[in-house]
Amino acid sequence: MGVRPSFWEDPYPTYQAIASGSPVVRDEGMGVWIVTGRREATAILRSPHVSSRWDLLHRTEQADVLRRMLGGWFMLMDPPDHTRLRRAVQGWFTRRRIEVLRADLRRDADELLRGTSGDRVDVMGGFAEPLAQRMISRVLGIPLEHGVRAARLMPPIAGFLAMPHSRRFEAAAAEAAEELNRLFRGCADALTPDGLLAALAAERGPDALFADTAILLVFAGQETTAGLIGAGLLHLLRDRAAWGKLLRHEVTVEKAVEEILRFDTSVPQVPRIATADVAAGGELIRAGDRIVVILGAANRDPRVTADPDLLDLSRAPSHLAFGTGIHHCLGAPIARMTAQVAISAWLSSLPRARVVNGSVRWSADRGYRKLARACVLRTPE
Ligand code: HEM
Repeated sequence: MGVRPSFWEDPYPTYQAIASGSPVVRDEGMGVWIVTGRREATAILRSPHVSSRWDLLHRTEQADVLRRMLGGWFMLMDPPDHTRLRRAVQGWFTRRRIEVLRADLRRDADELLRGTSGDRVDVMGGFAEPLAQRMISRVLGIPLEHGVRAARLMPPIAGFLAMPHSRRFEAAAAEAAEELNRLFRGCADALTPDGLLAALAAERGPDALFADTAILLVFAGQETTAGLIGAGLLHLLRDRAAWGKLLRHEVTVEKAVEEILRFDTSVPQVPRIATADVAAGGELIRAGDRIVVILGAANRDPRVTADPDLLDLSRAPSHLAFGTGIHHCLGAPIARMTAQVAISAWLSSLPRARVVNGSVRWSADRGYRKLARACVLRTPE
């Protein structure tokens, strides 16, 4: 996929150009199939003939610590290993726990907003990122300083996962993985009893898999949720009609979050590899072929959503922001709830906030779609 200079600011024209040929296209240069259609993306993600296995997807030589860590992430496994390990943690995500977290996170969000000073608020560094760090620390049941430390160690790992064939991030990622292992092995005594890690430790003991799962959850949950909160606030604050509808309770925050997930998801793509021949979009994907499913494009498929490039809070959106099939996002209810809490806190505390022109920069990272920076004016003139 050719990357235009403005790609990071707005990847959707590029996705549209790829999709205009066909919902499934072969990029010979990169040696991958690119899937942009919603129907085709859904079929690929649900197919038993495509794999998420790290060792199949990337046959490159890697530092042992990275191979071991990624080999322990159930997101990068197929059944039956995937089923067994996912089951070990999914029981923790009950409705009651999510509602307890909602109340805690609302207090966190209000406290973060009270802590901001001056005319300008830094949406990411001052709010979205610290709120997501609090969320993941509460889910795992670890002290906040451990959660913050773990979150800060993620960028080299995310960089390595986005470009595993390049040596650019490998040494830094291996170092981060070593430190994350130490951090999670060392926090067994500091776990909150009702957190996910205490439940996992009681069941399995604080062994290597425990640390791998903890690292996976920080990787999968922290930046993604910060990205959703940042994008949500940016798009809603820029669209004064939409913000006004939320302020006047003409539309619910829950509905707004769903439309933001469709409109601009923080996980724009996921990789797969075919383990048998698979037909999709009139093409035959052969066993062994690599596939990139562009969720961001599938969410704007005009065959499914009318006026897909329009943020429209009145629609009942459907999307693949959390994937589908056996790897459907385990943290989806928590991500939704955290974004709802974040937007509600802004509606109450900063109803007249406005985005500062020229302050918005998107991160140039293939793995996530996330604001690097955005400032708002607290009270406009
Ligand atoms: C899987 C998106 C938040 C934990 C996924 C997948 C997507 C996704 C697309 C599927 C990956 C694939 O098919 O290869 C998102 C987005 C989030 C978010 C957009 C925030 C806006 C979270 C949170 C957690 C979490 C908060 C945990 C607390 C996971 C896990 C998986 C996963 C463990 C792997 C599931 C499996 O392989 O069975 N997520 N996620 N995610 N997500 Fe999320």
